[in-house]
Amino acid sequence: MKYRYALLALLFLCCKPNPQSQEPTETEIQTAVDNLLREMSLSEKIGQMSQYSQPTIASGPERNPQKSDMYHDMIREGKIGSFLWTWTSEITRELQEIAVNESRLGIPLLFAVDIIHGYKTIFPIPLGEAASWDLDAIEQSARIAAIEATAAGIHWTFAPMVDIARDSRWGRIAEGAGEDPYLGSEIARARVKGFQGNSLYEKNTMLACAKHMAAYGAAEGGRDYNTTDMSDRVLREIYLPPFKAAIDAGVATIMSAFNELNGIPATGNRYLLTEILRQEWGFDGLVVSDWTSINEMVIHGAAADDAEAAELAMLAGVDMDMMGDLYQSHLHHLVQSGRISETQIDQSVRHILTLKHKLGLFKDPFRYCDAEREQHVVFHPDHLLAARDIAAKSIVLLKNRTRTLPLEPRMAKIAVIGPLADNHKELNGTWAATGEADRSVTLLEGITSAVSKETEVLYEKGCDILSDDRSGIDRAVQLAQQADAIVLNVGESADMSGEAKSRADLDLPGVQLDLVKALAATQKPLVVVLTNGRALAIPEVDELADAILETWFLGTQTGHAISDVLFGKVNPSGKLPVTFPRHVGQIPLYYNHKNTGRPDLGNGDYTSKYLDIDNEPLYPFGFGLSYTTFEYADLKLDKQTLPMKDTLNITVKIRNSGNRKGRETVQLYIRDVAARAIGRPVKELKRFAQIDLAPGEEKIVGFSLNAKDFSFYRHDNRFAPEPGLIKIMVGGNSKNVLETTCTLLSGV
Ligand code: GLC
Repeated sequence: MKYRYALLALLFLCCKPNPQSQEPTETEIQTAVDNLLREMSLSEKIGQMSQYSQPTIASGPERNPQKSDMYHDMIREGKIGSFLWTWTSEITRELQEIAVNESRLGIPLLFAVDIIHGYKTIFPIPLGEAASWDLDAIEQSARIAAIEATAAGIHWTFAPMVDIARDSRWGRIAEGAGEDPYLGSEIARARVKGFQGNSLYEKNTMLACAKHMAAYGAAEGGRDYNTTDMSDRVLREIYLPPFKAAIDAGVATIMSAFNELNGIPATGNRYLLTEILRQEWGFDGLVVSDWTSINEMVIHGAAADDAEAAELAMLAGVDMDMMGDLYQSHLHHLVQSGRISETQIDQSVRHILTLKHKLGLFKDPFRYCDAEREQHVVFHPDHLLAARDIAAKSIVLLKNRTRTLPLEPRMAKIAVIGPLADNHKELNGTWAATGEADRSVTLLEGITSAVSKETEVLYEKGCDILSDDRSGIDRAVQLAQQADAIVLNVGESADMSGEAKSRADLDLPGVQLDLVKALAATQKPLVVVLTNGRALAIPEVDELADAILETWFLGTQTGHAISDVLFGKVNPSGKLPVTFPRHVGQIPLYYNHKNTGRPDLGNGDYTSKYLDIDNEPLYPFGFGLSYTTFEYADLKLDKQTLPMKDTLNITVKIRNSGNRKGRETVQLYIRDVAARAIGRPVKELKRFAQIDLAPGEEKIVGFSLNAKDFSFYRHDNRFAPEPGLIKIMVGGNSKNVLETTCTLLSGV
């Protein structure tokens, strides 16, 4: 029994960690991997490439649900390299002991879980966090998630999801950073750094996974898993940048996508997973399929049978088969028949074993199974404070007519109404399976703890999230008539966004709009708090409410974070990472659109417009109000003409013209007005900066741009800038901007 582990330790000792640090060098790791590969049978190699889920949890179509003892035997036979949806130090220790002590070579297992926005302390859904535009806070959120998750035996998270999404009908827009490639890239970088820390050898860091490569968010009709088809230019300028940013930040793993891209399923797409990912970008980490996405190539009609699907995935560059059982079933035959070489197998196994070494699992397979640490770190007060902080920063003030907000915490009576106001179950949002909903603070609880002892808090649900039962609306109206102000919490349930949760409409579900209308008719100050996982089309709510807070799903500290903003303890600073349309019929609607040859300028018939609705969004990308006001002035460039090799320096003055301190996210956009033969977007976000200003205070904010920032995939398909006129725009959202121009010169 102990022989195997001793052999492994011996193999590893030949590349013993350099004395000054426990962490093995790359050379030591590769030597150890070479030695181990020589020891492994083909069956054991294929076992490393096979990942299975615990029989109790499924995040995809259930395949052959197995009894866990069947997995125990497969571990002993060296047929499993990794489990997903497997956590707690106790369960992971049990499985790891079988792998290390009862299999021939004792190779430790990798345990993976979708820790998307927290393990036990749940943070805002990623789309919500993106609204904070606070990269430090976003990195800290991922760091805390890793600290808690690794204490429970988790080595690997399938996050960050970096899919750009321009269509809020797609439920998984909730999991990403919204519609913009630059913001999405900056956030991808922050999240990878948070999860992976400074070294994977640290016990509180874990493998991150940039997913789903690629263009999954471009699903036709916003319908999950649907076809995606686009030019290489759009793929490279819109959908790939966040993946490249994640790789530049050192992301250890990549997950392939379910969707077909330009005719080829992403999981069998060599152009994506080898030519771009490895040959162009130099990625040398691990590529894992999505849940049975290899098998689904048969259903796509891109493989005649499971064996061909496995062959195509291998040829494309997928190292590990998640839950498909196809590598296990067919790679032997594919190697014996020469369709796949053992060299290819060795390459995939090397990617897997390298990461197990980097995590220190060969040195100590149980270093992440620490029940005592698990008890100590989950829900740690510091984590709850951080969650409350980023949750408040994620809130976007969409409207505040006649300064309805902030509310007076000493008011006599406040009416808290709506199907989400006292609803623990929904607050964590999608992809929070390891969380504990009953530990989350509801809006009603948050308000109750925030108001004065003299304030009476009245509550009615009013209606359900989805049903057509209007019987509670009258009671809610009667309650509201007694109050000084109404806080109405409406929106979606947690399971209306996330995977396989697309909606054909973007309105408030059920009869919630009737509740809004009935309460608006009371003429009481009406504050609408939105809880949702996507942009909603809510023009009537915008018309009827006095104030609107977009709060997404904020997780464990929901009630406290919203109350901090409602009563002015925190001045809201969130900015929308996704455009809010007036109507679902406008979708796809995004700020970095093309001009067309007949833009709708409000004049003439033959222009690009609808007969029945305005082109403009309800709220534009980058939009968010504050309890104070910010004035922009003196946009200046340090040069009017820019030689290609030079840097353009931009300054702008921002003044807090209100009476409260506040944070502003200053956004810098460009427009390449005339690129040869290629139409460029009317705006492209290229930089942003967050500044805090006291009342009356003003600051000069500076940005620098160089030729790379003006580069795009030209008509000759080279990624390079073109000489010509460039618009430079700066503002507090993508619509209201100061503007100036500069001319990019040709040559050096
Ligand atoms: C799902 C998702 C993927 C997730 C995986 C494991 O189908 O598409 O994002 O990481 O399965 O849960």
